[in-house]
Amino acid sequence: MIDKKGLVEKSREAMDMSYSPYSHFTVGAALLCDDGTVYQGGNIENSSYGAANCAERTAIFKAISEGKRHFKAIAICGGEQKDDTDFCPPCGICRQVMREFCKPDFKILLSANHGKDIKEYTLEEILPESFGPDNLK
Ligand code: THU
Repeated sequence: MIDKKGLVEKSREAMDMSYSPYSHFTVGAALLCDDGTVYQGGNIENSSYGAANCAERTAIFKAISEGKRHFKAIAICGGEQKDDTDFCPPCGICRQVMREFCKPDFKILLSANHGKDIKEYTLEEILPESFGPDNLK
């Protein structure tokens, strides 16, 4: 059983890790590994705007670089100046990065209204007909 509210709160906490001096749009992500560990990440922007890294990928890359390979869920939230009133869905690049490491039933938890409202999707739902590692075999 996934502690959804707990994971959402960790994503809200991760907004504090955001480095977003250009957009002021702070995103937080909390990635739950199969072994119960959680990796948090914030978006990291750059004066060369295209070099920005989303919060989701920060969390995923942190986990991958620490040797983790099996994941259950990710919680994502964000908004201007840490105001997470609205849902913050993952961008297309982040969905594709999830596709590399996560199974089709991997859960994506989006929260709004400061953690009060939670929507849940699977990776398969938000990235149908996708291209992945199997296509290269
Ligand atoms: N951002 C994320 O961190 N995750 C997403 O999935 C969408 C966008 C960040 C990138 C940039 O720093 C800011 O939000 C505005 O696009």
